[in-house]
Amino acid sequence: MENLLSRKIGDKLYYIGVNDRETALFENMWPLPDGVAYNSYVIKGSKNILIDSVKSNTVEECLAKLREVIGDEDLHYIIVDHMEPDHSSGLLELINSYPDVKLVANKRAFPMLKSYYNIPEDRVIEVKDGEKLEMGDTSLTFYMTPMVHWPESMVAFEEDTGILFSQDIFGAFGTLSGGIFDDQVEFDKYYMEEMARYFINIVGKYAGQALKALEKLGSLDIKMICPDHGPIWRKNPQKVIDIYKDLSSQKTEDGVLIVFGSIYGNTERMAEILARGVAEEGITNIRVRDVAHTSQSYLLRDCWRYKGIILVSCSYDRSIFPPMGFLLKELDHQRMKNNVWGIAGTYSWNGGAMKELKDFVERNKLNVLELQPEIQGAGNDEDYRNLLELGKQIARAVKEDK
Ligand code: FEO
Repeated sequence: MENLLSRKIGDKLYYIGVNDRETALFENMWPLPDGVAYNSYVIKGSKNILIDSVKSNTVEECLAKLREVIGDEDLHYIIVDHMEPDHSSGLLELINSYPDVKLVANKRAFPMLKSYYNIPEDRVIEVKDGEKLEMGDTSLTFYMTPMVHWPESMVAFEEDTGILFSQDIFGAFGTLSGGIFDDQVEFDKYYMEEMARYFINIVGKYAGQALKALEKLGSLDIKMICPDHGPIWRKNPQKVIDIYKDLSSQKTEDGVLIVFGSIYGNTERMAEILARGVAEEGITNIRVRDVAHTSQSYLLRDCWRYKGIILVSCSYDRSIFPPMGFLLKELDHQRMKNNVWGIAGTYSWNGGAMKELKDFVERNKLNVLELQPEIQGAGNDEDYRNLLELGKQIARAVKEDK
């Protein structure tokens, strides 16, 4: 049959993934300005094997592509590499369409299959770390990659072809619009940013486990990488492995991010003075972001990326400005260790912001500069000189730490 919906990407391998341009927020939190792809694959052999399902809102399209590939034949196996519902909520529809299909998963997925979809254990073949499973003329070897992204996450490797099915690992936000391979898309111009954001938003808190997973996969002779989101890597899989190593080890770039929380503009003026101080020390890579107007998704990505970070916030009643408080809470999970931090707080009558900023840097044991201006109201000339100096100090720290 002609492949007009599906794409043939190997001798027996087909891409049957789908683009979701309907979901506005991934995990109902992270913006998807250009949607997201749920990649799914089918191996058409003496046994037909589907690797990773899709989100339920797109499963009909996936099924249409699957039928185009296997026609009236049965689907024999579904590999469940990862249970997050962006890949598993289409399972019931697939099982309804192919009632005899067997699922393949590891033990940690079993209670999830039961609790989310009431799928009983006898429908599932268990695989263990390093185990090879023969399925007709295809065999896949499974490697556990816990917490990248969930505890049951695993990857599947086809030794005969060197194809790695990597689930969330090497994933990116953004649909696959036309091109699906690394050599068919503008990766550096577009997907690199979306891969960084995906990693930091979704996997960043498990960066240590991501490094362990990469070590584990390091001995495999990988010729192609088929992730569950983002482009398929057939031309240069080593490139995405190297990118992931940099992301997992939080390799920062020389530059300073200033995030401000301001209600009537006084604290924003302080952010401007801080940025001027940074620039006067010769740093050109400066970003100033309004915490109330910038999605946490982009703020977290930038915090992970820039070597120097200054948080400057006003108070709200007796606490920190709530959007900044939410950012601090998110940053608590990130376990960042390669940044230099600066903090400054403003208040109207009884403080609030500075105490919470200090608590934040202390509980996370962050490398923070000692100059920590706390300013009442709109501030005065001396306050502005201190802010200028803080900007200069962080710029020097960034440069010295090369
Ligand atoms: Fe793409 Fe963790 O799901």
